[in-house]
Amino acid sequence: MKDNFGRDINYLRISITDKCNLRCKYCMPEKGIPKVEHKDVLTIEEYLKIVEVFKRLGITKVRITGGEPLVKKGVIDLISGCKEIGIKEIAMTTNGILLKDKIKELKEAGLSRVNISLDSLDQEKYSQITRGGNLQDVLDSIEACKKYNITPIKINTVMMRNFNLNEFRDFVNLTMDKDISVRFIELMPIGEAIKYKDNFISNEELLKLYDDLIPIENKDLSSPAKYFKLPNAKGNVGFINPMSCKFCGNCNRVRLTSKGKLLMCLHSNIFIDLLEPLRKGEDIEKIIVNAIQEKPEKHHLLDGEYNTTDMNEIGG
Ligand code: GTP
Ligand code: 5AD
Ligand code: SF4
Repeated sequence: MKDNFGRDINYLRISITDKCNLRCKYCMPEKGIPKVEHKDVLTIEEYLKIVEVFKRLGITKVRITGGEPLVKKGVIDLISGCKEIGIKEIAMTTNGILLKDKIKELKEAGLSRVNISLDSLDQEKYSQITRGGNLQDVLDSIEACKKYNITPIKINTVMMRNFNLNEFRDFVNLTMDKDISVRFIELMPIGEAIKYKDNFISNEELLKLYDDLIPIENKDLSSPAKYFKLPNAKGNVGFINPMSCKFCGNCNRVRLTSKGKLLMCLHSNIFIDLLEPLRKGEDIEKIIVNAIQEKPEKHHLLDGEYNTTDMNEIGG
């Protein structure tokens, strides 16, 4: 399925809940989020109906996100349902707190890969940024992924100047003896994170802090990361530069929220409803095809056009 700019759209990101067992400061407001009524969110059966249509249109990869996807009842059924539909790659982005206890079930259901969000290796700071999270749970989950052969494991680290800049080297050094990928993400001004935009550090600046990093080939052009390696390291280091918009030209993804809204770009404010048309028995394939023709060429973050919807609702 091609969009108007000739980009092949083959990757669907589904945010299955806006709830989370953490409250990362740049992602969720301290007071939490408004309660959404049951009837206003898609059921697992409805997600699967939508995935089926996307599969027909050429989607081969589904990533399940949140909020935190592992707090959602039915996540296992969703994964096994996607597998039955024939989705080749079923991935998840999670904060990793619950992962260690669910990994076996997830693997059996058909989960191929996980990306784990981790912004500090220091318990006190981890607890501060997540408003109460326990770092050891995440570290145990990384080990559990290895044990169940859910690889490659990718760690997503959002770098913030007045918070974890002093841990940059520790994160890079993790890749020396662990076969993992640590990816540094530039903080995007979106939702709650707009408040923290003075903490932004560009990846260009980060790269200057480490002389030894050697660029390596990136086989997946649509991946937002550029990869590097320390000499003789088991793992690698990635840099995701969403601000410079370098990967928009190869963008292959669209998003679906738990309220059944399609989002053509992470930074767009246009949400296209599928929930009501689906429940009314309308042709959602047509709506999706039309929406894809409207996918924007790129974001306009550098011109100050921000999406004010919080990340927990969109799933990153
Ligand atoms: P892989 O499938 O492993 O390449 O993962 P991914 O990078 O597609 O997904 P992940 O959920 O790990 O996202 C990592 C970071 O990249 C998050 O901060 C996302 O918000 C950001 N990101 C993912 N997709 C996009 C995108 O289309 N545009 C922008 N600007 N950022 C994105
Ligand atoms: N900027 C960059 N990355 C973000 N994430 C959440 N909010 C932001 C933001 N404002 C990251 C999370 C997670 C991924 C889905 O998106 O840390 O790893
Ligand atoms: Fe795609 Fe929009 Fe992300 Fe650019 S910002 S890569 S166009 S979703």
